[in-house]
Amino acid sequence: MSIDTSSLEGKKIVVIGGTAGIGLAVANMATAAGAKVWAAGRSQSHIDKAIIASEGLFQVRQADTHDSESMEKIFKEVGSIDHLVSAAVGGERTLKPFLEQTQDQFQAAYDKLWGYCKVVRTGASYLTETSSITLVSGSPARKIKPAQSPLSCVGAAVENLSRCLAVELAPIRVNVVSPGTVDTAMFDAMGDQKAANLAGMTSTHLIPRAGTSEEVAEGVLFVMRNRFVTGTTVDVDGGRILS
Ligand SMILES: NC(=O)c1ccc[n+]([C@@H]2O[C@H](COP(=O)([O-])OP(=O)(O)OC[C@H]3O[C@@H](n4cnc5c(N)ncnc54)[C@H](OP(=O)(O)O)[C@@H]3O)[C@@H](O)[C@H]2O)c1
Repeated sequence: MSIDTSSLEGKKIVVIGGTAGIGLAVANMATAAGAKVWAAGRSQSHIDKAIIASEGLFQVRQADTHDSESMEKIFKEVGSIDHLVSAAVGGERTLKPFLEQTQDQFQAAYDKLWGYCKVVRTGASYLTETSSITLVSGSPARKIKPAQSPLSCVGAAVENLSRCLAVELAPIRVNVVSPGTVDTAMFDAMGDQKAANLAGMTSTHLIPRAGTSEEVAEGVLFVMRNRFVTGTTVDVDGGRILS
């Protein structure tokens, strides 16, 4: 009888940026697959919503990717971590042509990368040989459009960091999931225009609609489960980079 080594049953999973959107979907789906999950984010409003969404089935904590102490508190509580995920946004993006941005605005996008670096540095000593790390980039890393240079550059940096880490931390597996345009709280500032704007943004994609958090979370669960996958980027983008 073969043993299913890819099962998430009883596995301990930490999702930084797990109180909304894609990270929250990972927390929900991993819990449904039998994992013990800790989901974390910064704001109390997202934490409160995540506690309701968890139905008491996973833990919700406060942490910031830029604050090692807040993450260390969770990692200590968990002990040995099987799968560490960072789906946090973690940086401010200015969507303007490069020459219309200040250096500070451009650099601010890289806060996402510095946050992910801190997640890995802080979490590394809690991982074992069979653990995995999953980071989230975004389709602009390889789909170049005007006014998206910060998104593109930081996404590409996250993808390259994951390959460097896959080599340095092996046999710990390190992967990236790259979402296309996904209907999450990230676009809530659009208010009443959100649905129409998302429809417009995705109308030329091969799958002409915004994705769901759950569709992207499937990608995260795939790289966590499959023990032969490392140093790769899984695109869950409705074909955005080809359209
Ligand atoms: N949605 C898309 O279309 C899309 C496209 C490409 C890439 N992405 C990437 O996918 C990832 C998830 O995005 P999403 O759409 O799911 O966003 P979301 O719905 O806004 O959720 C982001 C989550 O991360 C948390 N977070 C943000 N900054 C954090 C920080 N510094 N430390 C800890 N937690 C933090 C948020 O809670 P708090 O704000 O309360 O901390 C929330 O739980 C991000 O890396 C994003 O760049 C998304």
